[in-house]
Amino acid sequence: MRVVIQENYDNMCKWAADYIAAKIRNHKEDRPFVLGLPTGSSPIGVYKELVRQNQAGELSFANVVTFNMDEYLGLPHEHDQSYWYFMHDNFFDHLVDMKPENINILNGMTDNPEEECRKYEEKIASYGGIDLFMGGIGVDGHIAFNEPYTSLNSRTGVRDLTTDTRIVNSRFFGNDPEKVPAQALSVGVGTVMDSKEVLILINGHNKARALAAVVEGGVSSKWTCSAVQLHNHAIIACDEAACGEITVDTYKYFLDIERKERL
Ligand code: GLP
Repeated sequence: MRVVIQENYDNMCKWAADYIAAKIRNHKEDRPFVLGLPTGSSPIGVYKELVRQNQAGELSFANVVTFNMDEYLGLPHEHDQSYWYFMHDNFFDHLVDMKPENINILNGMTDNPEEECRKYEEKIASYGGIDLFMGGIGVDGHIAFNEPYTSLNSRTGVRDLTTDTRIVNSRFFGNDPEKVPAQALSVGVGTVMDSKEVLILINGHNKARALAAVVEGGVSSKWTCSAVQLHNHAIIACDEAACGEITVDTYKYFLDIERKERL
């Protein structure tokens, strides 16, 4: 596992966007490049930079297929807090050559969630799997909506949100946790782990405890993102602010090894 420490949020986003852009550009296979995507505040700077490169003619999304991580159950597309709305508002609507038919987001208004999730897994498989899954994490270390103690083998399915997560996310729902949907559809930890590469963004002081658990703690379903320790190509991109709880040794180790990587 690589941990790429950047000075601040903007640098972390630039690093992650450049990494993703290089992967898309260097993709020479016949099949499209399959990109897994998250919502949340963490990836916004990455989306901005990818859009900038796309609009400047430096990066094409014509051969990219996307799969989003999750969606609230019961929110229609036009709801401004649905992840469908977020993704179009922050990313897809600004890309000049993204094909709408290549965008995949779980349908939170489905009347058959189990079927919706099964088909999602099948569709990912039909493309030969996900090449790169970008993710963020919750303050409790959850990846997608895989709350603490979700199986690390889990597949796409319905998830109950914890009270903690509903409180954290209530900032987008008029600060009322009751207005945050109680359930979501989410890819599983196993779905993320099956992708060829995983890139997790962790920034800000409020994620410091989670970063320490994910990097230095054991692999545990208490912090579902810690599963990435077992992935062969996992990168955590973080900022200085999120490094407050890791040991000095760990911090120095990753700075040292990444410096060598660049030489
Ligand atoms: C939600 C999403 C996660 C995301 C997390 C963190 O819970 N389901 O996929 O990683 O929020 O969001 P933020 O980046 O805003 O801290």
